[in-house]
Amino acid sequence: MTAALGDRSLLPDLEVPLYLDHAAVGPTPAPALAAGIAAMQSIGRLGTGALPGLMETTEAARQAVGALMGARGADVALLGNTSAGVIAVAWGLDWAAGDRILLFEGEFPANVSPWLRAAEHFGLEVRWARAGDFAGEPQEALLGLERELIRGLRLVAVSAVQFQTGLAMPLGALGALCRKHGAELFVDGIQALGARPLDVGAMGIDYLAAGGHKWLMATPGIGALWARDWGRLEPRLSSWLSHEEPLRFLGGVPGRLNYDQPLALGPARVEGGLWNAAGQAVLAASCGLLAEVGLESIAQHVDVYLDLLEAGLLARGFGSARTTTAEGRSSLLSVVVPKDVAVIPLADALRARGLALSTPDGWLRFAPHWPNGLREVPMVLEAVDAALEEVRG
Ligand SMILES: Cc1ncc(COP(=O)(O)O)c(C=O)c1O
Repeated sequence: MTAALGDRSLLPDLEVPLYLDHAAVGPTPAPALAAGIAAMQSIGRLGTGALPGLMETTEAARQAVGALMGARGADVALLGNTSAGVIAVAWGLDWAAGDRILLFEGEFPANVSPWLRAAEHFGLEVRWARAGDFAGEPQEALLGLERELIRGLRLVAVSAVQFQTGLAMPLGALGALCRKHGAELFVDGIQALGARPLDVGAMGIDYLAAGGHKWLMATPGIGALWARDWGRLEPRLSSWLSHEEPLRFLGGVPGRLNYDQPLALGPARVEGGLWNAAGQAVLAASCGLLAEVGLESIAQHVDVYLDLLEAGLLARGFGSARTTTAEGRSSLLSVVVPKDVAVIPLADALRARGLALSTPDGWLRFAPHWPNGLREVPMVLEAVDAALEEVRG
């Protein structure tokens, strides 16, 4: 069975009829779950003997994630989640006290909290911009950012897509400005990777971190960090598998236990010890399915879905956070509810009618992906009508 747009037959166990919550957790397609289970079973059958096969899966997972962002698998570290990627960079750079970093108000905390901890520890100065200022015509906001860069920034940390409003940040423009002024661009890519085409090289990104459990449709506890140049990260998180030829001392020849082995220059510097084999197998397979359907086709499909849904919601008195320009749009549609209803009871009434969706910071957020069919939209709007009627009493 192959993956096809608007077809959820690869999600036979998904209980929710109208699943619009990929921006929170993407349900894992059956072939990817099967790959994870097979990885675990190989350990049950073979123990140590499973490791060579699992190492191949690790490489397959690197390649598969890298392919979705225009990167080489050899530059992709496999970590536990987005946070682990942020932490690896925040604690890995050779900061000098007084270095400035720029963060965005409105960001998901995973791309703020680790930077603030690193700022405390290394004596960094934190500057702030407002993500919302980049909606619509972002020229003004980009000029503001350039003024900060001219004053001196070491790094800008931003989410590719804002989790509340779905605003897609102008990554190419941010990357070009960072490059021009010698700053690095860190991107939390979890709300974009797997949903839309992304090209880390063309966009001038230096680091991109993403957990696997949303648009990549893998399971929680597996994620990736891509770096343009791993050599820029100090090996502060390194452990035994971070060395070049880390397994040499296990080869049966005495006298090879040597703690001075050079550290690897690639992603192994942040990966440390033994890995999440099942998660990596799931990730490799789920990314493979995304590549099979095609990110360009997925994005176009979701755009049509959200165009229809947005029009229906606007006609019912909701206010949309979606930008009028295509550049600021993503696979998330967030709306404010009509003035005479409250968002939480409305969301509950929708859930009772078979929808899965989220309410980040008071927005009502819809997030369909490739398995959602366009025929769902009238059903969603019917549920909205019924839910509105219920909460209005
Ligand atoms: C923008 C963004 N970053 C990060 C996360 C999650 O971080 P992690 O993968 O570390 O759990 C989320 C959502 O859960 C998010 O929306």
